[in-house]
Amino acid sequence: MVNMQEIILTRRSIRKYISEPITKEQIEHLLKAAMYAPSARNEQPWHYIVINERNILNKIIEAHPYANMLKEAPMAIIVCADENIEKTEGYWVQDCSAATQNILLAAHAMGLGSVWLGVYPREERISAIKTLFKLPENIQPLSIIVIGHPNEQKAMPERYLKNRIHTNQW
Ligand SMILES: Cc1cc2nc3c(=O)[nH]c(=O)nc-3n(C[C@H](O)[C@H](O)[C@H](O)COP(=O)(O)O)c2cc1C
Repeated sequence: MVNMQEIILTRRSIRKYISEPITKEQIEHLLKAAMYAPSARNEQPWHYIVINERNILNKIIEAHPYANMLKEAPMAIIVCADENIEKTEGYWVQDCSAATQNILLAAHAMGLGSVWLGVYPREERISAIKTLFKLPENIQPLSIIVIGHPNEQKAMPERYLKNRIHTNQW
């Protein structure tokens, strides 16, 4: 049984990878974790683009200003929202963020490294990804998740701030 608190606290953004590929089973495991995220009215408005072809990963490096780690990483998943599925307007950002976080945590629990690259709400990044993947008008990319076998280790920082906690009043 994994210790969930330990997984949450020790997950870090990994930006150095070895080139070893991620197996089909591992990818399925990550996508399943994503699809079990909570979503407003359980609408599950997401789609996932799995990218493991080197020439397409290289094109993402050109489309996103902070995606250089994709030179080494073997794969990425783009989390997108389908605005046609969404009935509760505006919640897709939170739904797809929850799905993104599930993938980051599941990857870490499997011994893999990952990093969340922000796409939404940066107009130039949204438009570059929409063009690169020929996304339909109703599909909005929220994040690119880089995934691979880590080639760096990061210490757990201290982040527990008691002055951010308010009990019963501000
Ligand atoms: C919405 C969002 C966008 C992010 N965009 C990027 C990015 O474009 N490039 C990057 O290297 N890291 C990106 N990150 C990762 C953050 O830099 C990282 O989570 C933060 O520094 C905390 O470090 P940790 O993930 O190791 O705890 C993003 C994270 C979030 C939540």
